[in-house]
Amino acid sequence: MVPPQGYALITGASSGIGEEFARQLAARGWSLVLVARSQDRLEKVRGELMSAHMGIDVVAIPLDLTAPGAPADLFQRTRAANLDVDLLINNAGVGALGEFALLDLNRVRRMIDLNIVALVELAHLYLQPMMQRQRGAVIDIASVAGFSPLPYSALYAATKAFVLSFSQALFEEARQHGVHVMVVNPGSTETNFFQVAGKGPFSDPSRMQTSAEVVRESLRAFDRKKSSIVTGASNRWLVVVLTLLPRRWITSAVARAMRRANMGVPGKGQ
Ligand SMILES: NC(=O)c1ccc[n+]([C@@H]2O[C@H](COP(=O)([O-])OP(=O)(O)OC[C@H]3O[C@@H](n4cnc5c(N)ncnc54)[C@H](OP(=O)(O)O)[C@@H]3O)[C@@H](O)[C@H]2O)c1
Repeated sequence: MVPPQGYALITGASSGIGEEFARQLAARGWSLVLVARSQDRLEKVRGELMSAHMGIDVVAIPLDLTAPGAPADLFQRTRAANLDVDLLINNAGVGALGEFALLDLNRVRRMIDLNIVALVELAHLYLQPMMQRQRGAVIDIASVAGFSPLPYSALYAATKAFVLSFSQALFEEARQHGVHVMVVNPGSTETNFFQVAGKGPFSDPSRMQTSAEVVRESLRAFDRKKSSIVTGASNRWLVVVLTLLPRRWITSAVARAMRRANMGVPGKGQ
């Protein structure tokens, strides 16, 4: 891993996988910039990490990354405060289970703005100074959902397919400049994700990884300079199945499972 000289900036650091990245990176001596909308949650995490780890700095920036100009605003604020970001973790993301045509259009736009637009803009803004310094790294959080089209989670799966493809291509471009890009693909993980996205057939807590497991595996892969990782042995098997079976077969089986869980019913997962 890049030695902790600068800051690790983590989007979606107020809960779940992002908060766990903050905890494990702080334990490795990284100073942090924490970004999410909930100021109170960010301040709580900041306070805990500052008192648990001597010598690190933790900055909390409450921000809605779907607001117009928010990624550029974040970049300017870190630059104005001389916070050299050596590690960008594009983690903030939301899902929405349910029939696509019945989802609220504002929610649809916000998902694209957060999962794709903000991630792309932040990568664009922070990669340039990293490439000039010939030092730095980006970790993008995609999902096993990005390996196949998923009916009743159609847009979410498509946003994660975008993140997967985009990040794997960037890995090759950035390594020419001494910068490491890695994409993490978790399966179902115990976080607030399903409270926001809606509960479905893949949200059984007994079959989920914890955020701590996801982040531990991710950082181990990052230390080994991997370009991509699927966390959890059963998720790795799932991805093998998803890539081997015909897509038409998978989409039909997923659609049946989602309909059994009533995900096609208006109002469910909204
Ligand atoms: N949990 C899973 O099963 C799973 C599986 C695969 C991939 N993932 C991916 O993992 C990533 C993290 O999700 P999670 O599971 O940890 O869920 P989570 O606990 O709901 O965390 C989502 C984070 O994103 C932040 N966020 C949401 N909207 C935002 C906005 N408009 N601007 C800034 N921050 C925003 C949230 O904070 P605020 O609400 O305070 O803004 C929160 O910190 C996501 O990209 C998700 O797609 C999750």
